[in-house]
Amino acid sequence: MQTAKKILLPYTESGTAMAAIRRQPQRGVLVLILLILVHISACAESLQVLHWWRSTGEQKAVAVLSNRMAQENIQWRDGLVPSGSGIGANIVLKSRVLAGNAPEVAQLNGVLISEWADLGLLLEMDSVAVAGKWEKLLLPSVWSLVQSHGHLVAAPLGVHRTNTLFYNKKIFSKYDLSAPNTWEEFEQIAKKLQQAGIVPLAQSTEPWQLATLFDTILLSESSPAFYQEAFVRKEPAAFYDQRFSRALKRLRTLKKYMVLSAQERTWMEMARQLAEGNAAMMIMGDWVKGELNAMGLVTDVGFGCTAVPETGNYHLYNVDTLVMLAKDNSLRATQEKFAQMLISPALQAEYNQVKGSISVLRNPDLSKMDSCSRASWKLFSRGSSVQVPSLVHRMATDEISKDAIIAEIHRFFMDDQMTIGETQRRLGAIARYLSKTKAGNDAQDINR
Ligand code: GAL
Repeated sequence: MQTAKKILLPYTESGTAMAAIRRQPQRGVLVLILLILVHISACAESLQVLHWWRSTGEQKAVAVLSNRMAQENIQWRDGLVPSGSGIGANIVLKSRVLAGNAPEVAQLNGVLISEWADLGLLLEMDSVAVAGKWEKLLLPSVWSLVQSHGHLVAAPLGVHRTNTLFYNKKIFSKYDLSAPNTWEEFEQIAKKLQQAGIVPLAQSTEPWQLATLFDTILLSESSPAFYQEAFVRKEPAAFYDQRFSRALKRLRTLKKYMVLSAQERTWMEMARQLAEGNAAMMIMGDWVKGELNAMGLVTDVGFGCTAVPETGNYHLYNVDTLVMLAKDNSLRATQEKFAQMLISPALQAEYNQVKGSISVLRNPDLSKMDSCSRASWKLFSRGSSVQVPSLVHRMATDEISKDAIIAEIHRFFMDDQMTIGETQRRLGAIARYLSKTKAGNDAQDINR
């Protein structure tokens, strides 16, 4: 690990100290102890970072961050809580804060940022924003996301696109297929693949993974405005709408093209199925790209990526952000230094290339991006008319509403006896209830 290496280098390579020991062993040892103390105090700054990135691609992205920190003499103390989409990590974070044992930095995304800021738990870093000209540098919707009541409370890392369809290039060229633009084309391809004995779509039954698929299906069957009616404003009528029933029907149709295992599989296992040719396509956020690259597959060679059918004009997104927990002020300077580091152009380029996401900056170097990222950035940078905040990845609404909706989508998918009408009634009732509670009123609009 780079950090450890950095700490050892001065002692092993310091010719002066070694020479001193040889000349006058006792004084030399003292010099050495002094050097160690000086070095330890130079490296004394350390931040514990709570996050949920455990896959190979994600760990590579973590290494980019921790190595960069080490260059600034800040040690990254790893607070990994492995959990796809951060469900477990958010629970651990909450309980640590309640126990008075908060980490200095935590991955906290979307709507949660302003909720936590309202509770006074996050460090306000306005001087960083002013000195670093964040408002000018960041894409407008990202800049709006990292603020709460006019204060900077989070540092952005990258933007993921969740309406992404990945396909195995070898299989597609063997069967002379091209990436589908419509659901009709998708079905033609899927049928052809099935006849050839190939699983068309890699999919896990884990609730958040299923709901990530449903998120994008709903967008494909409606529009950004309708999606927000349902998932941001939770208008009960939206859940009874025909566009919603069409989306549920589509989800059930797609089930035919999956081979589901009794156990819930991680998204990494599904990505491996795609990589090894055990499935031809996968619909998921583009963190899968980071994973496929980490497995040695080159974008546009080993796999291709395109928008999920009928969502090509939209960017269903989530932004990864780190917050600095407000503790005593002793680490403020280090936390602020870390925040500023995160939006440097070089770090943004390196980190996002590995993570599969795109830069949060207005003027990134597009030549450093692969075709998937370039397409994603070009679309996202067009602004709020094409940006759709992902429900599952915390961009649209609070945790309670999100989890309640995901549970119903999961129930519908798993139980073939559950009718579309009944699911709509259940979701409509949840929306009615939530709109009467505080949770329901906290919905975030990206234009807030
Ligand atoms: C998302 C997060 C990504 C990735 C993914 C899988 O919510 O934004 O960075 O980690 O979960 O765990």
